[in-house]
Amino acid sequence: MIANKLEETKDFLKERGIEKIDVAIITGTGLDNSIPLLKESTTIFYKDIPYFPVPTTNHPGKFVVGNFNKMNIGVLNGRVHYYEGFSLEEVTYYIRTLAYMGVKYLIISNAAGGLNTSFNTGDFVIIKDHINLIGDNPLIGKDIDNRFITMKKAYDEGLREELKNILLDMKLPPHEGVYAAVHGPSLETNAEYNFIRIIGADMVGMSTVPEVIMARYFKMKVAGISIITNMASDEHAEGKEVETVAKKRAVFLKRIFEKLLGSIS
Ligand code: HPA
Repeated sequence: MIANKLEETKDFLKERGIEKIDVAIITGTGLDNSIPLLKESTTIFYKDIPYFPVPTTNHPGKFVVGNFNKMNIGVLNGRVHYYEGFSLEEVTYYIRTLAYMGVKYLIISNAAGGLNTSFNTGDFVIIKDHINLIGDNPLIGKDIDNRFITMKKAYDEGLREELKNILLDMKLPPHEGVYAAVHGPSLETNAEYNFIRIIGADMVGMSTVPEVIMARYFKMKVAGISIITNMASDEHAEGKEVETVAKKRAVFLKRIFEKLLGSIS
């Protein structure tokens, strides 16, 4: 039973002084240097936390908890993906844990391929809505009550507005867009990129949507931001480039996170 597992996870974290979290952040591919500066921070590796899925990619998988403006912040540095062979129940286990710890706000980031031709590699795009093309949903399964949740306004309008002001302040283009999630791991063919653009997406990636569905199940307010690591029109793009671009933009993302936390507190 997942409830028993969650109890065990929670007890473990409680023994290490982590009991209540107000705001959580998930950092995606190549974004290790985007962790905001937190006071009195503690780091625990996922591999030490009972039932926490451990990334099989080169994501480090560490949970950093500390204070920012008197709020308790939990940063999930690294995530697991569907393409690694994890079920969506496993992919969203972190979110269930956060919900158990009282998280009210989830700030989620990812690397994505750009479909909208007004974007450039390295741009940040505020997620305004999403399309789930994974072909699965974390609310499928036994023992899940009240699962027919609305996904309208999944990305909080107030937080989107804050993010827009932050990007403008930083003299970055204030793009907003629709994120389509695919399961990957191969990137798209030209025909697939075209298809995804035609159905209404501005960017495409392999994460985020399952986590957002679970976060909305627990009524968290969600803010999402993508870094465009490659454009659909690029002659050639592979995983390595995705990571290089994300790494270069991580410090900007750190500032965006800190400013957004400042506006929440
Ligand atoms: N497609 C899917 N996922 C991605 C891409 C892409 O082009 N870039 C980064 N993640």
